[in-house]
Amino acid sequence: MTSGGGAPNPVPAADAAELSVILPSFNEAENIPILIDLLKAALDGIAWEAIVVDDNSPDGTAEVARNIARIDPKVRVIRRIGRRGLSGACIEGMLASSAPYVAVMDADLQHDETMLPKMLAELKGGDTDLVVASRNVEGGTVGEGLSSIRAWGSNIANGLAQKLLNVTLKDPMSGFFMIRREKAEALAPKLSSQGFKILLDLVSSAGGALKIKELPFTFRERQHGESKLDTLVTFDYFGLLLAKYFGNVVSVRFLMFGLVGASGLFVHLAALRVFLLGGVEFNLAQTAASFVAMTTNFFLNNQLTYRDRRLRGLRALIGLFTFYAVCSVGVLANVGVANLIYADPAYWWFAGTAGAIMGAVWNYAASSALTWRKS
Ligand code: GDD
Ligand code: MN
Repeated sequence: MTSGGGAPNPVPAADAAELSVILPSFNEAENIPILIDLLKAALDGIAWEAIVVDDNSPDGTAEVARNIARIDPKVRVIRRIGRRGLSGACIEGMLASSAPYVAVMDADLQHDETMLPKMLAELKGGDTDLVVASRNVEGGTVGEGLSSIRAWGSNIANGLAQKLLNVTLKDPMSGFFMIRREKAEALAPKLSSQGFKILLDLVSSAGGALKIKELPFTFRERQHGESKLDTLVTFDYFGLLLAKYFGNVVSVRFLMFGLVGASGLFVHLAALRVFLLGGVEFNLAQTAASFVAMTTNFFLNNQLTYRDRRLRGLRALIGLFTFYAVCSVGVLANVGVANLIYADPAYWWFAGTAGAIMGAVWNYAASSALTWRKS
């Protein structure tokens, strides 16, 4: 090939960015201007750009960032509508970069921007693909940035990641890292866009192929705005661990759907007991208990399994009824398969399990196509 856009190794433009700093943001309007000033100071002498990936924050973060971008071409903005999620925002930001190196960093000033030149130097040294700014290696600390209960939860999450996934990172939950863009680009199709676990996802999806280095830093306390990490994010994280552990045979979503289904069994039994104690006749009590369990399952799935497609208001009500319909057919599938297999009573457990799996698979497939269909 000759010169031009398609040439394999064209000389980069003199002002092309060498480093893109991806800044996922949700309600960080107060922090963005301060952060950009800090980046300017920290990255003096480096050809950098910042890509703010904002999920249509109600506080107008995207607009604040655009106002900066209008006077400073180092700043770019991606405004995503109808989507939420830290991991997804980071992936999109990385894919919007054309620089050889990309960093992902929180936009809330909790990450120490003076780490960036050190991380870049590490990558340019040539031997490393991924540099993680870690809160747990010697010299690093969570400082005042994490409450003790969060620190405790974070330790458990790290321990599990190390055990289940053979990930040797000291801080696999860190949201602060820098990677060769070509590596991120190659891994992107395998990544999940839900939740907060982008780093763990990158490392475990690479299956040991990334050369990683961890550098210590102190996690700062948040000054403005509030954290978006909640119990749902944590639940999602454990879902990823399980799914990766099982070799991605089953999707995170199906696993979560299954966990919710299992919780439904307890709800069902509890409700049945209450109805029976209240003197309700068995068949009626059993039917009513099924509806109670289907209802809690619906709302749990709506909150957890399909949090990215969550139904609200009237659509939630319609969703609930389609979910009842789907599950009723699921019971038929369950009992049908179980009956087919139950020819030999010695295999009652096999028949029962096969029926339950058949019902779950049906419920999952049909509800994702009907109840929580992609609009
Ligand atoms: N675009 C987008 N969409 N950005 C988001 C979203 C989202 O749905 N949720 C959070 N963010 C942005 C925030 O605006 C912030 O810039 C950054 O992602 C981190 O979010 P926080 O809500 O401040 O997270 P945290 O400080 O509680 O959690 C930190 O520690 C975790 C591990 O304990 C982060 O560094 C996480 O990345 C890390 O996993
Ligand atoms: Mn934060």
